[in-house]
Amino acid sequence: MTAQLIDGNALAARTRADVSRRVQALKARGVTPGLAVILVGEDPASQVYVRHKVKDSEKAGLHSVLERHPATLSEADLLARIDALNNDPAIHGILVQLPLPKHIDAARVIESISPAKDVDGFHMASAGALVTGQPGFWPCTPYGCMKMLESIGYELRGKHAVVIGRSNIVGKPMALMLLAKSATVTICHSATQDLGAFTRQADVVVAAVGKRNVLTADMVKPGAVIIDVGMNRNDDGKLCGDVDFAAVREVAGWITPVPGGVGPMTRAMLLVNTLEAAERT
Ligand code: GUN
Repeated sequence: MTAQLIDGNALAARTRADVSRRVQALKARGVTPGLAVILVGEDPASQVYVRHKVKDSEKAGLHSVLERHPATLSEADLLARIDALNNDPAIHGILVQLPLPKHIDAARVIESISPAKDVDGFHMASAGALVTGQPGFWPCTPYGCMKMLESIGYELRGKHAVVIGRSNIVGKPMALMLLAKSATVTICHSATQDLGAFTRQADVVVAAVGKRNVLTADMVKPGAVIIDVGMNRNDDGKLCGDVDFAAVREVAGWITPVPGGVGPMTRAMLLVNTLEAAERT
């Protein structure tokens, strides 16, 4: 059996088109959704990410502002900028690109963002809303993974989902979203003994570790759905995920490719969150 692909590029394009339509409707009511992206320092990967985020929002008709600051920016000055954006009615979403320089306390910065504008979903209030099932912003990557499962009409109720990885940005919120859909959820991580014993029982595996070949074909139940959040480089410098794609696709029922899987959906969900922040005002 060769798995069917879950095409993140196609789903992201449909999501962006839907966002554009809703943006036009909001603009007709006199509201233009606004996103502020803050980059501190010159991290090359971060520069690429923020360029994409700003370009995506402009294409979808959002107002977007990119604030670039030198790596020497003080924490107090960054907090002052966030305070100004919290109070700026033209801005509905604020995203501070991580990682921040070492002299800045990232947790303090995230907590300074108004929860109403926390379109990354990293604020404690957003995390608490997810835990308790209240409305709030969901982190873009696991939210995008849920949309991918929804796009294939997959019924999670009663299924066993195994999440590999326990980060605040992906693993933990992913497990909570799957749980909210009544899946039985197992979280595996670097200290898990015999990872394969868990994944072989899984109907759904989400791999979010950041290491190549964490999931190999012998670890997959035939027909399982495999969501690959990894972004790694192989020996030839080509982008690859956490999953041994070529071999796992011969066992799985559905699989997301890298590139063209979760990545484009993460970007699309930031637009959705920003739009919804504006819709709520
Ligand atoms: N750095 C890497 N991924 C992300 C993300 O999703 N949001 C922010 N703010 N920074 C990141």
